[in-house]
Amino acid sequence: MKILLTGGAGFIGSHTAVELLKNNHEVIIADNFSNASQAVIGRIEKISGQKVKVYNIDVCDAKLCSRMFESEGFDAVIHFAGYKAVGESCVKPEMYYRNNLDSTLTIIEAMEKYGVNNIVFSSSATVYGIPEKVPITEDMPTGCTNPYGWTKYMNERILTDTAAANKNLSVVLLRYFNPIGAHESGLIGEAPNGIPNNLMPYIAQVAIGKREKLSVFGNDYPTHDGTGVRDYIHVVDLARGHVDAINYASSHKGTEIINLGTGVGYSVLDIVKSFERVNGIKIPYVIAERRPGDIAQCYADPSKAEKLLGWKAEKNIDDMCRDTWNWQKNNPNGYEE
Ligand code: WQD
Repeated sequence: MKILLTGGAGFIGSHTAVELLKNNHEVIIADNFSNASQAVIGRIEKISGQKVKVYNIDVCDAKLCSRMFESEGFDAVIHFAGYKAVGESCVKPEMYYRNNLDSTLTIIEAMEKYGVNNIVFSSSATVYGIPEKVPITEDMPTGCTNPYGWTKYMNERILTDTAAANKNLSVVLLRYFNPIGAHESGLIGEAPNGIPNNLMPYIAQVAIGKREKLSVFGNDYPTHDGTGVRDYIHVVDLARGHVDAINYASSHKGTEIINLGTGVGYSVLDIVKSFERVNGIKIPYVIAERRPGDIAQCYADPSKAEKLLGWKAEKNIDDMCRDTWNWQKNNPNGYEE
């Protein structure tokens, strides 16, 4: 299939591009590179040995989107484009609502205009808020706790209601848990701007000497060691899930919500110890205050993905720690040459 990846130069988008190319799909990327480096495209091409056509556009721009849809004739869309920093969304909510909702509305209007009927949307486990129990299944209540999460939830609603009105439309909403790791080549990986918000890129920058030590946000949670527990999933497993999801979307109608996680929870200290063991590097840390908005535990019941998509995570925590370090040590400044 000929597939549009909006935000395809990002961490998950770039890994998904590689997996799609490996599965003989044609990949077109639309990205405004506001939160991604242009260097990613060359890396994707180097890994896959194939050219990738890129539109350097803002997918909120209806005119440019329409022109791209008209000239390309897509079979499907995977919609990654959007701002994704929880903390920033609390400071600039209107920017998040404007960008993250406008982009989705613009894309589905272009899809309807040009008869593109399959979309996979990059949603997040953050829509569950504070889960009433774990592991989390797709039918459990949602409860967003920040504007970023609300934009994911609202986009799910927009897409679900559009599919209810347009019987030709097929929607798969993928709720990611905690994506980490990097492609085994070390050519693509997570390259956050500024100080990393997320755990694993922060650990990687401590390991490379860019950060002095890790602050562990709280050790008084009701978990096995008091630190926060999350479902870390290798980004390549996540990318494989998108290949299976777009194949599913192309042979079904209506909307499906699917968790993409491993079903296993690891604490902050579990991750630190795994990273140290696998890579032979000491990660100094201090116990700090809890981070506002954090929850104690969040991990998936991934059985629906296995049943519906035939997908299951294959990589373990050692792979995630090894591949993260391989990326970071080969790219100490991310994609900056
Ligand atoms: C994981 C654990 C922290 C940093 C967020 C978004 C979610 C998704 C993934 C986009 C927690 C602890 C972290 C640090 C720490 N993103 N931590 N020190 O918060 O589970 O999820 O990223 O979709 O939407 O909410 O991920 O990596 O920030 O935190 O102790 O310097 O690591 O308290 O327990 P989180 P995270």
